[in-house]
Amino acid sequence: MKFDTPAGTNPIDQGRVIGIPHDRIDGPAKVTGTAPYAYERHDAAPNAAYGWIVGSAIARGRIAAMDLRAAESAPGVLGIVTHANAGKLGKGNFNTAPLLGGPQVDHYDQALALVIADTFENARDAARRVRIDYMPQDGKFDLAAERGNAVKPPEGDFGGAPDTAVGDFDGAFARAAVRIDQHYTTPDHSHAMMEPHATTAAWNGDRLTLWTSNQMIAWSVGEMARTLGIAKANVRLVSPYVGGGFGAKLFLRADALLAALGAKQVGRPVKVALARHQIPNNTTHRPATIQRIRIGADKDGVIDAIGHEVWSGDLPGGGPETAAQQTRLLYRGANRMTAHRLATLHLPEGNAMRAPGEAVGLLALEVAMDELAEACGVDPVELRIRNDVQYDPEAGTQRPFSSRKLVECLRAGAERFGWDRRKAKPAQVRDGRWLVGMGMASAFRNNLVGKSGARIGVDATGKVIVETDMTDIGTGSYTIIGQTAAEMLGVPLDRVTVRLGDSRFPESAGSGGQWGANSATAGVYAAAMALRAKLAEKAGYPADQAQFEDGLIRHDNESRTLAALAGREGVWAQDSMDYGDLDKRYAQATFGAHFCEVGVDIDTAEVRIRRMGGAFAAGRILNPKSARSQVIGAMTMGVGAALMESLEVDTRFGFFVNHDMAEYVVPVHADIPPQDVLFIDELDDKSSPMKAKGVGELGICGAGAAVANAIYNATGIRLRDYPLTIDKLL
Ligand code: MOS
Repeated sequence: MKFDTPAGTNPIDQGRVIGIPHDRIDGPAKVTGTAPYAYERHDAAPNAAYGWIVGSAIARGRIAAMDLRAAESAPGVLGIVTHANAGKLGKGNFNTAPLLGGPQVDHYDQALALVIADTFENARDAARRVRIDYMPQDGKFDLAAERGNAVKPPEGDFGGAPDTAVGDFDGAFARAAVRIDQHYTTPDHSHAMMEPHATTAAWNGDRLTLWTSNQMIAWSVGEMARTLGIAKANVRLVSPYVGGGFGAKLFLRADALLAALGAKQVGRPVKVALARHQIPNNTTHRPATIQRIRIGADKDGVIDAIGHEVWSGDLPGGGPETAAQQTRLLYRGANRMTAHRLATLHLPEGNAMRAPGEAVGLLALEVAMDELAEACGVDPVELRIRNDVQYDPEAGTQRPFSSRKLVECLRAGAERFGWDRRKAKPAQVRDGRWLVGMGMASAFRNNLVGKSGARIGVDATGKVIVETDMTDIGTGSYTIIGQTAAEMLGVPLDRVTVRLGDSRFPESAGSGGQWGANSATAGVYAAAMALRAKLAEKAGYPADQAQFEDGLIRHDNESRTLAALAGREGVWAQDSMDYGDLDKRYAQATFGAHFCEVGVDIDTAEVRIRRMGGAFAAGRILNPKSARSQVIGAMTMGVGAALMESLEVDTRFGFFVNHDMAEYVVPVHADIPPQDVLFIDELDDKSSPMKAKGVGELGICGAGAAVANAIYNATGIRLRDYPLTIDKLL
């Protein structure tokens, strides 16, 4: 099915199941421990051996010698995979450094060997007996020092052009009545999802099955086939439950490749999980940024010139953190420039983490806007309303937004939060030991849509079954896909079985870039339309007039049960939603407004978040309960970015020092107050037949800047280097 004109009224608009808050249908399996995760597939691979990854102890250089003798003769050892015996491996499209290193070493903790043994303990013990001698090489590890060597990167898949320019930025900025020119920095971040990367691999002849924890099934089938040099048809990936991803599991990692190689070598299934301490350096992270923002405005705060430059680093062949993305679309201004610059760093590879680009771009832009508001004497909410623009400000009026309710979010959010009680002058409010302040920020995240397929059927009992390789990374995919099928076929949600995360099912858009919910349900919509047509034909009713409700198909005064039409074999249909160029004709994005109240201890400078709230416009909200959970989780991650999260770089040896959950600090429940989330009514008929947009990443975008701005309002201290830790306030 092709979606190339705005959606008219369709069966989703009935809103009988879609748009109603539902508990997650996978919830009971997850909280009772009965949902099988990749490392626990004892059912599928009962005789699996255990692998332990040996990572590089240097950041850059070559392996001079590997001595495996002590490890090979350790108790229970079945085999050891290294570059010397792994055979020729191809290079995947998504990994910057090889997942199995050697003889060249590209980054610290790059996998150099897999030790396989009969038990986990034996594998780990033997791994400690592997001796590797290195010839280290110097590397570059300090972004600030390499900033001057940064270059213009090639055009990326998701970040678009590295540079954009409209009008005469330099001239307009120089002439502006009010000018802001500031630098901001954000550190490297780790995804810190609960479930580590883990895979159980088994070969049956030349066919490989991977039970793994992965966001993008089809991408990863292709990557594994390319890396091993085998046919895609011989790779099956199964990932029905994922304990968090945040971008860390968009691509295959060493656990999957080494489990596959290990299982081949020892002739039985092998399971491999990354230990927590291996994750920050072996896998990807969100790269640190240095950002310069210049805004020129008139004395009323109306922007005439806006510029955003971003410097980040990655291994050779890697890509930039595209933190200027939102600045291309969020505010007006006839004269504009953005630039992403990329330095070579020999740290572990950088890549996507929740809302890559905007999540850290807004940490800078929305503080700069707060600085502009103060400089102009304009309220920060009002400043953003004055600078709203209903079309792509780089492309001009011929490219309007598909829908854009930023102003509505700003107004509704401000009213609900009690923004009018904020004192414009900082450091005016005291509550006992606490200096109290309020801050706000706009939220912005791109809305991407992608082709997505599904198969849907009705069985002889009238139950509806949906199959797609879409993943549920904790986001609620099972439930919204079930709701979509229930809505389309006129059955209650508990009559729908949803099967996800298996490459045997039709290819979906997968989970990434907040495109999953809208895209995957649109694929189910397409398959359901095809099934409705088949059922109508069987009943002898005109497809466009048949009604589906209460487990029946109706036309005029007649009806048939779905169960009767399905018969013993059932009726199945498969289709995908494919897109024309609507997303090029219309700028598509999601919007919101974050509000935050903090207290800062007058003596210790401890920051406590007292209240958080926001209003968000993201098209049709498919399941308000799970959408709210996504937003409050993302807001929490925004607090982490503002106040505590940072991978600390050892610039002498080139690795992230804090590599566990004790030292990579993320918010816990005690750090987070009750969070208020308001969804603004919006149906986006140009985004998909679901009229939905993404919402999973919107909540992190701007949340941290609202915290930073609240700290300024509380204390009068303007911080521009994240995380905003106590030492910077004293
Ligand atoms: Mo997202 S960072 O594309 O999983």
